[in-house]
Amino acid sequence: MNIAIIGTGYVGLVTGACLAESGNSVICIDNDEQKIAGLRAGTVPFHEPLLDAVVLQAGRQGNLQFTTRLDEGTRLADIVFLALGTPTGSDGNADIGPLLQCAHELAEILDHDCLVVVKSTVPPGTCEDIQALFDTMLGRRAAGCAVKVASNPEFLAEGSAVTDFRLPARIVVGTSDDADAETLKQLYAPFDPDGTRLIEMNLRSAEFAKYACNAMLAARISLINELANIAGPLGADIGPVCQVLKSDPRIGPRYLEPGAGYGGSCLPKDLRALIRMAGDKGETAPMLHSIEEVNRRQVGLVFNAIEKYFWGRFQGRCVAVWGLAFKAGTDDIRESPSLALIRALLDAGAQVRAYDPIAEPAVESSFTHPGLVLADSAEQACLDADVLVVMTEWEEFMTPDFRWLASTLRSPAIFDARNLYQDKDLKSLGLRHYQPGRTFPAHSMLKTVWPQAPLLRDDIPQARQQHA
Ligand SMILES: NC(=O)c1ccc[n+]([C@@H]2O[C@H](COP(=O)([O-])OP(=O)(O)OC[C@H]3O[C@@H](n4cnc5c(N)ncnc54)[C@H](O)[C@@H]3O)[C@@H](O)[C@H]2O)c1
Repeated sequence: MNIAIIGTGYVGLVTGACLAESGNSVICIDNDEQKIAGLRAGTVPFHEPLLDAVVLQAGRQGNLQFTTRLDEGTRLADIVFLALGTPTGSDGNADIGPLLQCAHELAEILDHDCLVVVKSTVPPGTCEDIQALFDTMLGRRAAGCAVKVASNPEFLAEGSAVTDFRLPARIVVGTSDDADAETLKQLYAPFDPDGTRLIEMNLRSAEFAKYACNAMLAARISLINELANIAGPLGADIGPVCQVLKSDPRIGPRYLEPGAGYGGSCLPKDLRALIRMAGDKGETAPMLHSIEEVNRRQVGLVFNAIEKYFWGRFQGRCVAVWGLAFKAGTDDIRESPSLALIRALLDAGAQVRAYDPIAEPAVESSFTHPGLVLADSAEQACLDADVLVVMTEWEEFMTPDFRWLASTLRSPAIFDARNLYQDKDLKSLGLRHYQPGRTFPAHSMLKTVWPQAPLLRDDIPQARQQHA
């Protein structure tokens, strides 16, 4: 089939490359001229494992092209995917303005029958609005063609996007008639060899399915974080508790790692949008609000732990931060907990030396501060630093030289926000170790490390009482 993809970002480029790989003729369109020029020269504009090779190979085979021109890119398309960003708008809901504007431009130029498929995450009802827009505009200009609209939300995860697209757990297809569903079934047949993965439904259900999925994932993350925060003060170790949870087939093993909270380009904004949509319909959605509240709090707990460690005095302190991306495997820093922490540390007067194997260029181009130094290596970030905070679970952070860290850090402590390390490996070397849900420092540090130190926060007297 001839496919056009509008919006060549994380979703659009992966979709385009994988559909080209499976034998379709694909043109990816983007209004970012630099991005398209780079892609034409063979440069993938962001980090995504395996994607460079798929783009290169599909390009060599002549199946994958790039353009900034909407007319040129869609001229022969049987299917046009819309994969534009839908960030949070001023009212908290998804901003679908650019998507509607793009559909409008498309309705001005399309002159042949085709299926327009919305891949972006959009509020239920958006596809119907776009269908109405096409019907009105094509009719008004007597275009003599029929354009149908379908929903096909994307479920890939950054860091494993190509694999997720090639081997999807499910393919959600929302249509208003069977013929459109059949077209998408044919397109996705190579990705659904046993015919069990494609789930058909109406337009609004497909649009909602994406929000439901992200709400469920965010709920798991916030719940495991909350459980971890309770476990620590109760003297329970959340590590083996997680193992118990993961081994329960009713619960399942994924998204059960206590940490610094969720971030990225999807979960935070989709939760916000869902809360707004619920509110518009008079539903208070208390659980969704709680998921957000727990998440907002989580990075603050890491900050509080560091603040307590320094007894509230950040002046003259330097914090090494490993990891800037919101998770390993991507250079995406959108709503990264690491950046939230870094901002808070800088605001409090600390110096920060940060390192990320992939995401530093993204930070360099969007966030500068005289107190922030981006280091060339994990080790370099620790030189002249008092403590280390590990915010992203990159492979290269898994087995650091603890002995070297113990002798290099000026005030040796590791704030292991991703729960990567074993307590025993650090303690024997004199490294203090903070892990969410295991050794929340308010109690242990006050009692054992600085029993005479002045109190800093309201919750400390309470913690003392509990331990008295
Ligand atoms: N990133 C993910 O992991 C992911 C996963 C599933 C779903 N989604 C959803 O997919 C959608 C796209 O997300 P993304 O992360 O790929 O976004 P992105 O910001 O990486 O990419 C969007 C692209 O659209 C381009 N663009 C914007 N306006 C345009 C226009 N008028 N014409 C042509 N190109 C235009 C931008 O230049 C950009 O390259 C969002 O709705 C998102 O919620 C994202």
